[in-house]
Amino acid sequence: MKNAILTALCIFAIIHSVISWQSSIVGYNAVSKKLSYVRDAEGNVIPDFSTSGYHSGERELPNVSQVKTLSWVEMTDHTNYIQNAINEVSILPISSNFRGALVLGPGRYIIKGSLYINASGVVLRGSGQGMNDNIDTILEAVDNTPDQRDVIIAGSGDNDRWRAQVKSTKTNILNDMDVGDKIITVQKQLFSVGDTVVITYPTTDAWLQSVQYGGTDPQWTVNDQISIQYHRIVTATTGNTITINAPVFNSLRKNLSQPTIYKHDNTNRINHIGVEDLRIVIKSNGGPSDENHAWNALSFTGAEHVFVRRCTMTGFGLAGVEFQTVTYATVDSVTAEKPVAQTTGGRMYNFCLSDAAQHILIKNSHARDGRHHYVSNGSARVSGMVVLNCTCSNINAASEGHRRWSTGILYDNLKSDYDNLAIGIYTRGTMGPSHGWSAANSVVWNSRVPRGSICVQKPPTAQNFGIGCHGVVSGNKQPCPFEAQQGFIEGSNVEGLEPSSLYLAQLVDRLNNQ
Ligand SMILES: *[C@@H]1O[C@H](CO)[C@@H](O)[C@H](O)[C@H]1NC(C)=O
Ligand SMILES: *[C@@H]1O[C@H](CO)[C@@H](O)[C@H](O)[C@H]1NC(C)=O
Ligand SMILES: *[C@@H]1O[C@H](CO)[C@@H](O)[C@H](O)[C@H]1NC(C)=O
Ligand SMILES: *[C@@H]1O[C@H](CO)[C@@H](O)[C@H](O)[C@H]1NC(C)=O
Ligand SMILES: *[C@@H]1O[C@H](CO)[C@@H](O)[C@H](O)[C@H]1NC(C)=O
Repeated sequence: MKNAILTALCIFAIIHSVISWQSSIVGYNAVSKKLSYVRDAEGNVIPDFSTSGYHSGERELPNVSQVKTLSWVEMTDHTNYIQNAINEVSILPISSNFRGALVLGPGRYIIKGSLYINASGVVLRGSGQGMNDNIDTILEAVDNTPDQRDVIIAGSGDNDRWRAQVKSTKTNILNDMDVGDKIITVQKQLFSVGDTVVITYPTTDAWLQSVQYGGTDPQWTVNDQISIQYHRIVTATTGNTITINAPVFNSLRKNLSQPTIYKHDNTNRINHIGVEDLRIVIKSNGGPSDENHAWNALSFTGAEHVFVRRCTMTGFGLAGVEFQTVTYATVDSVTAEKPVAQTTGGRMYNFCLSDAAQHILIKNSHARDGRHHYVSNGSARVSGMVVLNCTCSNINAASEGHRRWSTGILYDNLKSDYDNLAIGIYTRGTMGPSHGWSAANSVVWNSRVPRGSICVQKPPTAQNFGIGCHGVVSGNKQPCPFEAQQGFIEGSNVEGLEPSSLYLAQLVDRLNNQ
């Protein structure tokens, strides 16, 4: 696995080999050969994004053995035909996390309902993502009952936002934490290595004041519940301290709000689901702005360690792939294009972290024709979103943190041929309404928008970073939609940034450490 990552790093390095340079705030230490980071006076630093992805990027996506095949047969609705086969696989025994793969032969399958993959360890595999139903597997979603349904729902289906607490495990965090920190002093030591935990930083008036009430009008209020949450795994304990697997992506200061931590009861959490090698085509009977059709092609809701690869999604109103209450997911080589809906708010988010989505990696993927192509809609419960080596074309609005303080978003080697604002880690001001500061402690790294622009602005108490990007990179009103202080911008339009991929370099560092 490490070799594969090193090879990928080399390919990046060769492609871009000119005079290389490193950022002044993250670069290789000459002695340790590992990345070292510089904090600014406010305590801001580029955090480690490398835990994003299926099994935190530590395992390749698996090739799960086929346990059942279905051939195409003529029917007016294949929903039950496929669901019954999924259900058969769903009760097989689990070995090495998986029960097995259901393989759909080539053909055009008509889906009038929704398909549920709600048992752990099930992979749904087609025969190819192309358009030729003699060799490819096409799921054609027709009709609109129920209204604006999801075509595939993978996971429990419950966007529970990790609410299930192990009884009496909620306790206070006693230390102030900076972005990037992984060590927590707890009031009561109730935690063991391997526990999943949820850190909560409740919205208070003092915190809102420190972020200028979102910098918007109407201002954010305590009732808006913009509580930052981080879903983590305990990796070490000593005395009253615990270490977590991934850093917090925001400073948590006790004088503004008292952070807490609880053990997440994840005993019944659905895990290890995959969808691969197929095409989902959502049909509508209206024109290009018709909204009477299925709304999301694939919704991961209530799951962890999931993946989708080599798929194409078209015709969705909201998302090709969306995530709610999901951790450790990888999207690899997926195309989401040709959405059908009105070109306006709340639609056409091709890859969408809707709510409570963390440690999500979207790589080698393509988005076209939508509005916000790679986006967090999820307020302060979304973080650890990494968009790696993806492309974007024919877009109508920026890839961005969309609303209310998402943290820890990384756009790494994103390429867009759009001629306007393509990526924003910034304030959306009064848009939305009152979306305000939409991303904090987020990074755009070595991304290319040769005809367009990237907006990088500094939120109060935090920072955003645009390093080694190509195109207009600025914090000014124009290209940004609202006035604010410029973020940390370095080396724009200079070739040769090392490392060429921040995520891959951070992953190598972390794996070498383990
Ligand atoms: C899965 O199969 C592909 C193609 O044969 C191979 O490149 C890849 O390494 C395999 N992955 C694993 C985890 O074995
Ligand atoms: C899983 O999906 C099946 C098929 O639709 C459904 O019958 C069942 O109730 C679902 N189970 C759970 C636990 O949601
Ligand atoms: C909270 O503490 C920080 C230092 O940790 C300080 O800079 C800040 O002014 C304090 N804010 C309030 C409202 O006391
Ligand atoms: C974004 O989140 C808000 C608040 O939860 C919700 O009202 C809205 O429908 C979401 N938009 C999309 C496109 O998911
Ligand atoms: C980047 O993604 C493209 C697919 O768009 C793929 O062909 C290429 O190999 C990827 N590059 C790396 C370094 O993984």
